[in-house]
Amino acid sequence: MNEDTIGTMAVSVTVNGHVYTGDCEPRLTLADFLRHRCGLTGTHLGCEHGVCGACTILVDGRSARACLMLAVQADGATITTVEGLSGGGELNSLQEAFWDNHGLQCGFCTPGMLMTATELLDENPEPDAAEVRECLSGNLCRCTGYDAIVTSVLDAARRMRG
Ligand code: FES
Ligand code: FES
Repeated sequence: MNEDTIGTMAVSVTVNGHVYTGDCEPRLTLADFLRHRCGLTGTHLGCEHGVCGACTILVDGRSARACLMLAVQADGATITTVEGLSGGGELNSLQEAFWDNHGLQCGFCTPGMLMTATELLDENPEPDAAEVRECLSGNLCRCTGYDAIVTSVLDAARRMRG
């Protein structure tokens, strides 16, 4: 089948408080929609088959692999990407904790780590280290050895509790 005969479908999503509307091929992934249609390249693509977690975003408040969702599946959804964490150019508490505790090196995995940790801290404001490790077990990092990431999330939890 020629691509021209497949047709397109309308998609409208709210991303970080902004509405993005457009036609796209039904096979377009949500990750590619965010990166190429919305210009939100903070959502990274590593494995593109649901293993590495680099593409993790929040869809209606729940973490999701943007590489495993089609853009058309997200029609009508409210999405948060890593760009939506900072307000007015200021890092939020979680991002500051990653910065202060060296929770990143190359930074490739960091958007996914941040989004997964955001969901964790929303649901559990006082996790212990084991719970942080369990939660982040679906996010792969090739650089840090994970200790600094876990420390960062625990520090962020303390900061957010005041
Ligand atoms: Fe989506 Fe790896 S790029 S899980
Ligand atoms: Fe490099 Fe995690 S900081 S992959």
